[in-house]
Amino acid sequence: MIRAGIIGGSGYTGGELIRILLNHPNVEIDFVYSTTRAGTRVTATHPDLLGVTELQFTGEVNLEVDVVFLCLGHGNSTKFLNNNQFSEATGIIDLSNDFRLKKDADHNGKEFVYGLPELNKKRITSARYIANPGCFATAIELALLPLANAHLLHSQVHVNAVTGSTGAGVSPSATTHFSWRNGNVSWYKPFTHQHLGEINESVKTLQANSGEILFLPMRGNFTRGILATAYTNFKGTIEDALQLYQDFYSEAEFTQIATEPINLKQVVNTNQCHIHLHKHDEVLLITSAIDNLLKGASGQAIQNMNLMFGFKENEGLRLKAGVY
Ligand SMILES: NC(=O)c1ccc[n+]([C@@H]2O[C@H](COP(=O)([O-])OP(=O)(O)OC[C@H]3O[C@@H](n4cnc5c(N)ncnc54)[C@H](OP(=O)(O)O)[C@@H]3O)[C@@H](O)[C@H]2O)c1
Repeated sequence: MIRAGIIGGSGYTGGELIRILLNHPNVEIDFVYSTTRAGTRVTATHPDLLGVTELQFTGEVNLEVDVVFLCLGHGNSTKFLNNNQFSEATGIIDLSNDFRLKKDADHNGKEFVYGLPELNKKRITSARYIANPGCFATAIELALLPLANAHLLHSQVHVNAVTGSTGAGVSPSATTHFSWRNGNVSWYKPFTHQHLGEINESVKTLQANSGEILFLPMRGNFTRGILATAYTNFKGTIEDALQLYQDFYSEAEFTQIATEPINLKQVVNTNQCHIHLHKHDEVLLITSAIDNLLKGASGQAIQNMNLMFGFKENEGLRLKAGVY
């Protein structure tokens, strides 16, 4: 058994981590730290866990835990680590974007590894510090990496991805307000979304001269999940494309190539990424679907923990989709 700490326990990714770790056979939750709920029952904030746990949030941090998950907004992970010196032996898995880019990966001598197992499994296995990828970044990178690996991303790549409202975190905002979001759809940050940095870094690790990625993020009228479509020129047949993707993901625990067109709900509440390919003339359309809070955040964080500690990669993560 290893002991885990969770920082930012009242948020969405924190809540999902608690839910999964409570059912993980190799992990005991040591503490769930909260700046706003210390001394209250976890179930008062996460009522989905009623009858499952008696845990209380705490304002105390155990600096000797085996692994700590930072579920904090941009900039707060850096501040938190500066104020809390964890033991040398403590593994750190950060869900924010503080350490994802190569230029940010070194934090006071701690070298963070980008935690996308489909790209970096070997490095993750021997890492102590993990920068967990962004949710859009996970869906888009998994859609594009096989093409980059074959050096086939020459022309522009057009990406359109729609996310549920939990992607914006637990604090209410104008665009997560029910009256605005319900029955509505909109784009935001056209071609400038912050995840483009990590997407480009990962793609260029495999193909330095890859074409430009034009990414249009969208807000959808649902709470969980990301459906991403990407299309680009591809001269081979659909069979060539399928072979390329099947080969690239032959060892991947959680990325599956679907032969039928996919939809969002088939992955919601799972750590899966489903990918579908469609060929039209010279264009290849790649569709990928993930749960933003699981494969896009807490599920992938636990997948990374499993790899770091030598547990089965899918331990605690054999989850059934809420498909109907
Ligand atoms: N939501 C997603 O789909 C998703 C996907 C991938 C990555 N991420 C990333 O994961 C991180 C957490 O996301 P989230 O959606 O869980 O956010 P969230 O729902 O807003 O939760 C963040 C939590 O951080 C704590 N907090 C706020 N300010 C703090 C401070 N100054 N110092 C320490 N703790 C503070 C609060 O918890 P307490 O009140 O309990 O302290 C808050 O509930 C973000 O960086 C986000 O970008 C999110």
